[in-house]
Amino acid sequence: MRDFDFIVLGSGIAGLSFALKAAEKGRVALVTKRAPSDSNTAWAQGGVACVMSDEDSFELHIRDTLEAGAGLCHEDVVRTIVTEGPARITELMALGVHFDHRENGHGTELDLGREGGHSKRRILHFQDATGREIENTLLSKIAAHPSIETMPNHMAVDFITTGKLGYAMENSVVGTYVLDESTGTVETLRAPVTVLATGGCGKVYLYTTNPDVATGDGVAMAWRAGAVVANMEFIQFHPTCLYHPSIKSFLVSEAVRGEGGILINARGRRFMEFHNPQKELAPRDIVARAIDAEMKRSGEKCVYLDITHKPADFIKSRFPTIYETCLGGGLDITSQPIPVVPAAHYQCGGVKADINGETSLRGLFAIGEVACNGLHGANRLASNSLLEGVVTAHRAFEKATRNHKPKIEIDLPEWRSGGVQDVDELVVISHNWEEIRRLMWDYVGIVRTDKRLQRAATRLRNLHAEVQDFYWNFKVTTDLLELRNLVTVASLVVDCALGRKESRGLHFTLDYPERDDTRFQRDTALRRI
Ligand code: SIN
Repeated sequence: MRDFDFIVLGSGIAGLSFALKAAEKGRVALVTKRAPSDSNTAWAQGGVACVMSDEDSFELHIRDTLEAGAGLCHEDVVRTIVTEGPARITELMALGVHFDHRENGHGTELDLGREGGHSKRRILHFQDATGREIENTLLSKIAAHPSIETMPNHMAVDFITTGKLGYAMENSVVGTYVLDESTGTVETLRAPVTVLATGGCGKVYLYTTNPDVATGDGVAMAWRAGAVVANMEFIQFHPTCLYHPSIKSFLVSEAVRGEGGILINARGRRFMEFHNPQKELAPRDIVARAIDAEMKRSGEKCVYLDITHKPADFIKSRFPTIYETCLGGGLDITSQPIPVVPAAHYQCGGVKADINGETSLRGLFAIGEVACNGLHGANRLASNSLLEGVVTAHRAFEKATRNHKPKIEIDLPEWRSGGVQDVDELVVISHNWEEIRRLMWDYVGIVRTDKRLQRAATRLRNLHAEVQDFYWNFKVTTDLLELRNLVTVASLVVDCALGRKESRGLHFTLDYPERDDTRFQRDTALRRI
């Protein structure tokens, strides 16, 4: 058993920001499933939404966020995150994060981008690779910090709670079992504070803009430990994922539409004007549903995003990653429209947490995408997530260090493996994994019905039993643990969706196509019984 002051699970903007601050107060274990830079943050193209211009105001950013959230945002949380944003952005810049600037006649100013649902230009960006810039800067600071032990290729298995250990006290997280992939052994880490910053669950769907690590591990672990999980029905589908035979999961940033890109169908016709007055810059749920409807109506496999009317030099300098990636796939976006489809992108629900990241389990904080704190409601406003990650990391740090947390005195038992044999049929794991992702895509996608959701629920129950059987009978591996988490998170999405008999934000069902404020203007909260 190894002791730390803080265990941080996950290495995106939220986990890294927390770890850097916490390291000034104690020893930090930074546990990350693959390489530290394998995170959703590193893939974020668009940028960070933040009020940084005199032409903008906190009230406008708050209003845009509430509008996108379709009546389910918690206004106090929105207000706090929006108003504390500039201070956190200033800290990021002080650490060395670069954001693009432009000439303004007297010198330079931040070059603020625009995205769907924003009434002002307020997206700070570094070309089209903002997340990578933030991730690399934070990682360079982490690497140099003597109080942080980074544990790459380590996957958290489960939390150790006082409840599971049989103590008659408020259920508290006191440690974590962590699989070291290189040795196959499970280590026991103990700390009074554990911070969950493991991101979302895009891989639960067949098509996603997320990296392979996004398997919903944090939500699944917190659920098993008895934490409240909320609003998992609200999965955001990004409208424009590249549709290409060999380039998978590649996002074409909403910033392309912010800079004037238009959506057209295979016949070259623009269609967003028939769906919403904000056209291509309507909130994401609306654009994704419009594309889905257009594809179903025409029978085409994709629609197209056209930015060819902009000067080629502008496209290459503003969107170098998108330009180069598409060119690598034989597509010159300065002269050809980009084939795109919607794909799972962001989990708006998650482990229920307050504005400081505190969850329903003592000692466990949840920050960033894994958390459901009320910022996003039924639909996240574009580029609010990096902002959320950095603001809530700071608040969780302040909360966790405000009162002195005594060291945990409880002896934690060593991990006892369910089985001693290696998994004999890897093919079953990959088959189950594919089946979950396909059935989620087919039955729990952009447009839902009760019948499809029920069908998904039944199949997931069977898959759950199969996976549990594997879990108890074989040695754990990262693949098996991810599968176990995927089936849990998929079931949570379905259970939450079945409970919401209305359409709101990202949850749209043909059986209840209207929003029903009298019955459903509330979060969907679930706890394991
Ligand atoms: C994008 O660049 O379109 C993604 C930004 C986001 O998801 O907030």
